[in-house]
Amino acid sequence: MLQKPRGTRDFLPDEMEVRRAVEWKMRDVARCWGYREVCTPEFEDLELFTMRSGEGIIEEMYVFEDKGGRKLALRPEITAAVIRMYINEAKVAPKPLRWCYFADCFRYERPQKGRYRQFWQFGVELIGADTALADAEVIMLAADLLNATGVNYELRVGHLSFMKNLLEGIEPSTQRRVMAHLDKKDFEALAATLDGINKPDLAHSLTALLACRTLKEAFEIAGDIPGKERIEQTISLLDATGMKYNLNFGIARGLDYYTGMVFEGFAQNLGTENQILGGGTYRLAHLFGGEDVASCGFAIGFDRVMVSLGDIQPATVPVVGLVCTGEGRTRALVVAKALRDAGIRTEMDLMERGLGAQLAHASKTANFAIVIGQREAESGQVTIKNLATAEQKTVDLAAAIAEVRRLGPR
Ligand code: HAM
Repeated sequence: MLQKPRGTRDFLPDEMEVRRAVEWKMRDVARCWGYREVCTPEFEDLELFTMRSGEGIIEEMYVFEDKGGRKLALRPEITAAVIRMYINEAKVAPKPLRWCYFADCFRYERPQKGRYRQFWQFGVELIGADTALADAEVIMLAADLLNATGVNYELRVGHLSFMKNLLEGIEPSTQRRVMAHLDKKDFEALAATLDGINKPDLAHSLTALLACRTLKEAFEIAGDIPGKERIEQTISLLDATGMKYNLNFGIARGLDYYTGMVFEGFAQNLGTENQILGGGTYRLAHLFGGEDVASCGFAIGFDRVMVSLGDIQPATVPVVGLVCTGEGRTRALVVAKALRDAGIRTEMDLMERGLGAQLAHASKTANFAIVIGQREAESGQVTIKNLATAEQKTVDLAAAIAEVRRLGPR
């Protein structure tokens, strides 16, 4: 028996309905903030991703050659594609651009719970606004979106300048290594790397920075960092709204295009794969042949949010099983159309079953049975049976529709 590829999932209707319900809550929040949906291709030129992150990223991607010999990759994330699209299609559009997306990404990772090879991100990119308020807006939107899903989370906000200031003068590749150790809280590897460049004392300031929970403490350790005022402004804007977050100066972010503010969300009930959101300010346009443009964005790992939310039952919507005899079939088609036109989910028997078997099937799959036999076909009325209470009556079609609607939203 053929199976689905490793790291992918199938979603049955119940699960899809629950996923869509959460997705639409997020879409609604994004809409209220003025973020409009964009869509980019599932695959891009490989170069789009290697330009940003180097050839090393190839190991983590689905890379292939098409029949024309072009090197392509399934998108491992969407930010790079959105900025490519911005340069291609919208660089003269009035700024700022507020864009969002909900789309699948592909990473060649070792699958486990919460880590898949195909997964969905709900993301936003704010392009062309370079202010404290812009940074604050994106962080506030991140919180609003997570709140809408109902997930329990911690939002951590930091800034790369603190770490970068302490690491000034160190070769960029070593800087990146140090930041990766800090990101993973791998203090042994950190000490070894710092010993290797003859800067063992730095370990103390770097670990102290990780423990800081206020801006004041962080400035004391890292010194006068560039953009100090902007950071203070952003943080005071967040505080003015009363939103909940924790300062954390150990966030380094895995992707290396971030420039300033960085933030991450963690679900409180997940294990190792508990990061449900990541983002920050970044600059990418110049890499892809465009004019440099300040941007800020994030992506929510939709599948991890769903794992964190756990088992949710899909909303109950009234379902009608339309039951008919041979004589009632033509009338039943007309009744079914009227029910569907009224927005009611209506299912007819397709198996040529007898009346009793149709009713038995409806009692497993529907809330109401509407029966059309010869008598109903002639009178124009319908017999409606509430399958939960077994109550049955013969009424006009309009009354039956009203009865079904009383059970709940469509
Ligand atoms: P990222 O941190 O690589 O950032 O991914 C964002 C989120 O996607 C993660 O926090 C995680 O929840 C989810 N995620 C990542 N890999 C997997 C996986 N294999 N399975 C399930 N979920 C996963 C980005 O992708 C950036 N483009 C975010 C961004 C937007 N930065 C600026 N704008």
